Amino acid sequence: MFERLERMPTDPILGLMQAFRADPDAQKVDLGVGVYRNDRGETPVLEAVRKAEQAVLGRQTSKTYVAPAGNAAFNEGMERLTFGEGHPALKANRVRSIQAPGGCGALRVGAELIMRAKPDATVYVSTPTWANHVPLLTGSGMKLEQYPYYDGKTGGVNFSAMMDALDKVPARSIVLLHASCHNPTGADLSEAQWHDVLALVKRRALIPYIDMAYQGLGTGVAEDAFGCRLFAAELPEVVVAVSCSKNFGLYRERTGVLHVITETVPAADAILSQLVRIARTLYSMPPDHGAAIVQEILANDALRGSWADELGGMRNRIATLRRDLVVKLAKACPQRDFSFIERQRGMFSFLGVTKEQVHALRERHHVYMTDDSRMNIAGLKADNIAYFANAVAQVLS
Ligand code: LMR
Repeated sequence: MFERLERMPTDPILGLMQAFRADPDAQKVDLGVGVYRNDRGETPVLEAVRKAEQAVLGRQTSKTYVAPAGNAAFNEGMERLTFGEGHPALKANRVRSIQAPGGCGALRVGAELIMRAKPDATVYVSTPTWANHVPLLTGSGMKLEQYPYYDGKTGGVNFSAMMDALDKVPARSIVLLHASCHNPTGADLSEAQWHDVLALVKRRALIPYIDMAYQGLGTGVAEDAFGCRLFAAELPEVVVAVSCSKNFGLYRERTGVLHVITETVPAADAILSQLVRIARTLYSMPPDHGAAIVQEILANDALRGSWADELGGMRNRIATLRRDLVVKLAKACPQRDFSFIERQRGMFSFLGVTKEQVHALRERHHVYMTDDSRMNIAGLKADNIAYFANAVAQVLS
């Protein structure tokens, strides 16, 4: 029977990671997969993670199962990190959380939950959105539509087009929003715009599904969760998928959580039982190690402080790279305005060149980015920004 199955195309992001690793060129530049890198081009294990890991391993006496919902203390710690201490939805006991295998696992569990509640659900995603949102969400059977989001002319959000489109979607539609550090554009909603979207969501009775994969890598831990916190305080139902891959640097440990806010406490309890059942039928239980590390960090003031400092260091490095890149691109390509890169947040920006030019960058200059010209800014280094800017200039000329 297997001969009926055709070979799948390579994943647009992960395929690039393999191609970069196979390139022997000494000057190669990896702006592909969204992992943080330091100025040596490494993705280090955070100091706080290393210490927490030692504490966890030192204490561990068994590898027996934890639970389908994962580590309860991790889930509670993540609720406070996502929504902030004393958030009204937490106080009202309306939040239920399930640890999941990474942000992807959380997104998929959330999609499965929505399909149980609303088998004809349609999710509206931004144009563009993270490439993996599409298969992750439609894999649950959910229908997918798009709303306009990015304005390539300004490098910002085309907010009026977004609002006009969302104003026309059927009531009870699901709207996928990026909490911050929009992937792939780096263009985020301002606080005032979050308020406007909230008013629209209320008026049109939409259900927000928020993906927060970069908390702390944009403006700050609280600032990057602004929309999540606002929506959770103001709406009866919100779904939030959170990843610890980037802000804790735990990528391969597959650490994430899904938070669901419901209108009433009995509904919340029913939802948790549904989430546990969904997990049981997909993967039974999430892996423990990464969540145990995050729990340790969040519960220990010294480790938490050190993690916050390291996260701040990553955030500042990305902001500095953005500034330097704008300066070097202005010098190398004076005919074109790249200043939008400095106004954007998080790891990603579009360079704004054609697929052919992306391929020329790869083939002639060993610079790797996805075909839509998404760059992982954290893949740059102080000593290769000028090389990259000159490569862009050559490809544009
Ligand atoms: C990315 O967008 O590059 C990251 O989120 C990694 C991934 O899994 O795609």
